[in-house]
Amino acid sequence: MTKIKVFDARQEEMLAFEEWAEANGVTLSFEEGVLNQASVHLAQGFDGISTKQIAKPEPEVYAILKEYGIRQIAQRTAGFDMFDGPLATENGIIITNTPEYSPASIAEFTVGNCLNVLRRLKNVEEKIEQQDFAHFPDIRGTTIRGKTVAVVGVGSIGSHTARLFHAFGAKVLGYDVTPRDDYRSFVDYQDCLEDALKNADIVTVHTPLDATTHHMFDYETFKQMKPGAVFLNNARGGVMNAKDLFKVLDEDHLFGAAIDVYEFEEPYVFSKHTHEVIEDKDFLRLIQDPKIIYTPHTAYYTDEAIHNMVTIAMDAALEVIQTGDAKHRTN
Ligand code: COI
Repeated sequence: MTKIKVFDARQEEMLAFEEWAEANGVTLSFEEGVLNQASVHLAQGFDGISTKQIAKPEPEVYAILKEYGIRQIAQRTAGFDMFDGPLATENGIIITNTPEYSPASIAEFTVGNCLNVLRRLKNVEEKIEQQDFAHFPDIRGTTIRGKTVAVVGVGSIGSHTARLFHAFGAKVLGYDVTPRDDYRSFVDYQDCLEDALKNADIVTVHTPLDATTHHMFDYETFKQMKPGAVFLNNARGGVMNAKDLFKVLDEDHLFGAAIDVYEFEEPYVFSKHTHEVIEDKDFLRLIQDPKIIYTPHTAYYTDEAIHNMVTIAMDAALEVIQTGDAKHRTN
C-alpha cells in the first residue's frame, strides 16, 4: 500500500485526510512539525510527502529526500515561494501546489476587507468600545459602486475578485502579464502597471511572489497610485515593501489599506503570541496603524479551503508517485 508522510498536519484537516485516504487506499502518517533538516528523517520509508508550511526547508532537505527515494513534495497551499524550485529539480523532486482550492475564499475576503476600509470599520469599532455612538465624518464611508478598481494579477483569485467588484458596480481595470480574452467582459486590461494604478481608487494585488513581483509595490509604485486610494494585499507580504506603505500613509497619499500578509510574518503568524513583546516594529505598526486593517494571513481560511487544500494536494502527491508527473507541478 502507498504510504505518504504528512508534515505540518493540523487537527482541522483530519476529516478530509481520512476520507481521502480511504477513498484512495493510501496509508497516511501525520507529523505536527514542518519539513526541515531536523524532521526530514521522518520521511524515510515513505513513498511521498505533503506539507503546508510557510517556513523554507533548508537546502540540504532536497538531497536527503532524493536519498530516501522521494520524488515529490505536495504543498497544501497555492503559494510555493517557500521552496527552492531549481534545487528541487536538480534533486529530481517535483513540487506541487493547490492553485485553485478556493479562489472565492480570498476574493470574498478581499472585497469584505475593502468595505471595512471604505466604511472605516476600525474607527467604528474603537468608538463602540468607548460607547460613543455619535455620527461624525470620521466614521462616514464611501461605496465600492462607482469606483475604479485595479486588479494586479488576474489569475484565478484575481479574476474572481474582479468579478465580485464588477458585480458591486465598480469599473475594473486589470494588469497581468498574460491577459485572457474570457475575462474581458468584466476586466479592462491596461498595458502597464502604472496605467492601472494611476486611474484606480482601489488597488488589489493577487500575483504570486517571485523575483519579478518582489517589492512590486515600493515607494515609487505606491506614489503612482491615485491620492486617496485604498491598497489591498491578500497575496504575499513580499510583493510590497511595508516600510514604503507606512511612508505613503504618513504622507496621507493613500486613504488606507487592508493587509493580510507581511513579508516577515513567519515568526508570528499561525501561532499564538499573547503577552509576548513583538520585537518586529514594522509588524507592530501593521497591527496598530489606524489606517490599516491587518489580518494574520486569514483570507484563505474557510471550511471549503481546508477541505480542498487537502484533497488537491494529496491527489497531486499520488499522481507523481504513480505517473512521475503532475498537472500542478511548479518546477
Ligand atoms: C496560500 O495558499 O498560498 C496561502 O496563502 C495559504 C497559507 C496557509 C499559506
